[in-house]
Amino acid sequence: MLIVANWKAYVEELAKAKKLFALAKRLQKATGVSIVLAPPAPLLGALAVRNRSAVAFAAQDVSLTTGGAHTGEVTAQVFSAANATYAIIGHSERRAAGDTDAIVAEKLAHALAHGLIPILCVGEQERDGEGHYLAMVREELTLAIEPLPPKERAKVIVAYEPLWAIGKTADAAIGPNDLAEMALYIRKVLAELLPGKSFSHSLVLYGGSVESDNARSLAAASGIDGLLVGHASVDPHTFSLLVKELS
Ligand code: PGA
Repeated sequence: MLIVANWKAYVEELAKAKKLFALAKRLQKATGVSIVLAPPAPLLGALAVRNRSAVAFAAQDVSLTTGGAHTGEVTAQVFSAANATYAIIGHSERRAAGDTDAIVAEKLAHALAHGLIPILCVGEQERDGEGHYLAMVREELTLAIEPLPPKERAKVIVAYEPLWAIGKTADAAIGPNDLAEMALYIRKVLAELLPGKSFSHSLVLYGGSVESDNARSLAAASGIDGLLVGHASVDPHTFSLLVKELS
């Protein structure tokens, strides 16, 4: 089981970042759950550069630009140099800030070009009775993955994050049955997009109001390889409970 802790902009102090990193190391050792931390960029640099532990790091986003005269941009290559292993791409909060499907596809290519494993976020705004949400998820997956060279496609981790479930509490999250159904659907789309049988190696995560109360039942949903956790990942007590639920 893979847990990606998306700190968003919740963590703003180095001391707090260090505490959460130390906790993640302890939890990973004690439970065997693989933990990936996604801090704001400068904090990622501070923690990841000399990291010798098994806890890995993810960029929360990468720039659309490559190196050059781009003040304020943090490129995929910089995250790679800072020892990040993964990059979250296409998070709904980045899409709301202007990332179109075309931008997401380009960022995905930048991340892969610099050796980062992309965690591609997809998810519908709302659920409707006619299954339009399935078409939307299919479209986001297709527009992001299809432009990649076939042999790169299996490297992409998909995080299913329905917008209606983000930033709420456990009772607003998706239920395990609906999640299993969506995981199956995502794998069906991946089977169409990826060459040969490589889709069978693809990881599918769920994110959106994962807390200690629902982590176990969501992780047990069939087809799910891990969880992307936002607000519950920055409270040490809650995060400890959550990870222990998964061991
Ligand atoms: P949340 O955020 O756990 O606070 O809902 C998840 C995410 O947006 O990645």
